[in-house]
Amino acid sequence: MIASNYTTHAPLLKWVNEIAALCTPDAIEWCDGSQEEWDRLTTLMVERGTFTRLNPAKRPNSFLARSTPSDVARVEERTFICSKRPDQAGSTNRWADPVEMRSLLIGKFKGSMKGRTMYIIPFCMGPVDSPLAKIGVEISDSPYVVVNMRIMCHMGARVLKQLEDEASGVSAKKRDGHGQFIPCLHSVGAPLEEGAPDTSWPCNDDKYIVHFPETREIMSYGSGYGGNALLGKKCLALRIASNIAREHRWMAEHMLIVGIHAPDGTRTYITAAFPSACGKTNLAMLIPPKAYLDAGWKTSIVGDDIAWLWPHGDGKLHAINPETGFFGVAPGTAYETNPIAMESMKENTIFTNVGLTDDGDVWWEGMTPDAPTHLIDWTGQDWTPDCGRTAAHANARFTAPAVQCPTIDPEWQNPEGVPIDAIVFGGRRPTTMPLIYQAFNWSHGVYVGATMGSEMTAAAAGIIGKVRRDPMAMLPFCGYNMGAYFGHWLEMRRYITNLPRFFHVNWFRKSEDGKFLWPGYGENMRVLEWIVKRCHGSAAGYETQIGWTPAFEDFNIEGLEGFTREDYDKVMAFNRAEWKAELVSQGELFIDLYDDLPKELIFQRELLAARLS
Ligand code: OXD
Ligand code: MN
Repeated sequence: MIASNYTTHAPLLKWVNEIAALCTPDAIEWCDGSQEEWDRLTTLMVERGTFTRLNPAKRPNSFLARSTPSDVARVEERTFICSKRPDQAGSTNRWADPVEMRSLLIGKFKGSMKGRTMYIIPFCMGPVDSPLAKIGVEISDSPYVVVNMRIMCHMGARVLKQLEDEASGVSAKKRDGHGQFIPCLHSVGAPLEEGAPDTSWPCNDDKYIVHFPETREIMSYGSGYGGNALLGKKCLALRIASNIAREHRWMAEHMLIVGIHAPDGTRTYITAAFPSACGKTNLAMLIPPKAYLDAGWKTSIVGDDIAWLWPHGDGKLHAINPETGFFGVAPGTAYETNPIAMESMKENTIFTNVGLTDDGDVWWEGMTPDAPTHLIDWTGQDWTPDCGRTAAHANARFTAPAVQCPTIDPEWQNPEGVPIDAIVFGGRRPTTMPLIYQAFNWSHGVYVGATMGSEMTAAAAGIIGKVRRDPMAMLPFCGYNMGAYFGHWLEMRRYITNLPRFFHVNWFRKSEDGKFLWPGYGENMRVLEWIVKRCHGSAAGYETQIGWTPAFEDFNIEGLEGFTREDYDKVMAFNRAEWKAELVSQGELFIDLYDDLPKELIFQRELLAARLS
C-alpha cells in the first residue's frame, strides 16, 4: 500500500510509506479534521459497536465508548524512556536501550494494522502560530484516536499545510522545529485476519508506550486508551516536550493555567501543579463564592492539564496550553461541584467508560445525588444501584472541546501566551501542610515543588500517611533525569526578569477526628485572592519557618459561614513534630535522586532544618 502523493512534505511521505510497508494496513487515510470526517468515523464506530450515539435531544453529537476492562488507564509500568544511557532517563523513569527497543517494536508493528485502516493525523500542540507550537504526525489504526485528537488539539489539513509551508519556505516565521514534525506511531496491536470478526475495542495485552528523546519519536503499541494512544498529550506535550524545553530554555509542565479577574479590572494568571486526585480541573474552573462574585471577582481558564512556559521578550514567564480540549475524569464531576465542566460537555463530547442511562444519556458516580434506578454500566451489563458494581470506571473520561467551556479565557489561543505571576504547587496532605504558604524565592519555590506529594490513603498496611513524592506532578511525565530537571528549573530563573512568585496550597488538611478543616471548591478563591495580592504587593505576609503566610486579618473570610479564627488557626497550624517527620521523609527522595540532585536543593533542605531547630 503506497501513501500516494498526498503531501509535498517529502520526509513525511517517506515516513508514511515506510510505516505502511511495515504495518501493512488495508487502507490509508489522511485526516483533514473536517466535520465530514468526524461524521463518517463516528458513524463507522457506531456500526462497529465501539461507539453508542447518545440521545441527540440530551447530548447532541456525543458518543459513549466502552473499552475492554484490561485497557482503562495509562500504563506507567509499560512506559519507557529510551535515551542513549540509563542515567539520562534517571531513576524515576523506566529505561530501555533505544536500539534494542526499536528492533523489538519493529517486530511488534510488523503487520500490526492488517485488515485495518491506517490514519495519518497531522496535529499541532499549541496555537499554530505560537513560537512554542510543535507539529506532530500521529499514524494510528484507531478511528477512536482520530476523533479524540480532533477535540484535543489542532488537527488536520490546516496543520499539514502549515508544515508544508514551513518546509517549502512559504511560511517565513521561524520557530524551533520549523518545517519538521514529531513522528508518533500508534497501533492497537490487533491485526484482523480476512473475514475474522473484530471486537468493539481492539487492543493487545502486550503494551509499550515508548519515547526516544534524542530523535524525538514516540511509538505506542497495544493500547487504545487516553494518554497511551492520544500521543499529543502526555507523550509529546510532556515527555518529549520536556526534553526539547530543556535544550531550548523553556518548560513543559503538568500544570493548569487559570486567570483571576479582580474587581479593579486586573487579570492575574497562575499556573498550578498537583498530583492526580487533587481537583486540578475544579481549580481551573473555579466559581468564586457569592461575596466575591458580587464584588466583581471571576476566573477564566486557559488550560486544565499542561502548560508550556517560556521567558517572553517582555521579561515575564508566559504560558500556552498546548491542548484544545479537556480529557477529564468523569466520576465525581457534578453540577454542584463543577458546573463549568458539566456545561463544557453538554454536546460534541466523547465519553469513555461511563454508564448509559435508559434515555440515552450518561451517568457516573457523584453526577447526581440520586442514582438512576437502572442503566447499562461501563462493562455493558445491566446495572442497578444495589448491584454491587460501579456504573462508571473510576478512570472514566470525557473528551470535550475547550471552546465549549463557559469560562474559557479570551486569550487562550493567543500565540504569545499569557503572562504568569504565580506558580502554585499542592498535594493531598491530611497533616503537616497549612492551607497556604508562599516560598521565600525562586530556589526555595523549586524546592517546594520538588518535594511536593500526596499522602497515600490505600488501605494496605503501613502505607497510610506515607507521602508519595511527585515532584512538580511530573513523576510519570518528565522525559529525562529528574535531578537534571530540577537543575533546569533552577537555571530558568536566570532568563526571567520579572519572576513569578511560588506558593504551596493544601485543600485537604484534616482535624484529628478526620474532618476536612477547609471547605475547598469555590472557597479556594479566598486563597487565590491572597496569592494575587501577594503578586501585586498589596497583601501583607507573615514570615514563618516554612515561608510567608497570611495573618488572619489579611485573609478574607467574609461570607464563609461558621468559619472562625480558631478554624483558621487549625488549617494554618505549624506543627514542629510533623515538619521534622516531613524533612526525614523528604530525605528518601533526596537519596533516590542523590547522584543528580542540584546542591541548591540540598541546601534548601538544610536551611529548612535550621529554621525548624
Ligand atoms: C491525566 C493524568 O490523565 O494526569 O491528566 O493522569
Ligand atoms: Mn494530567
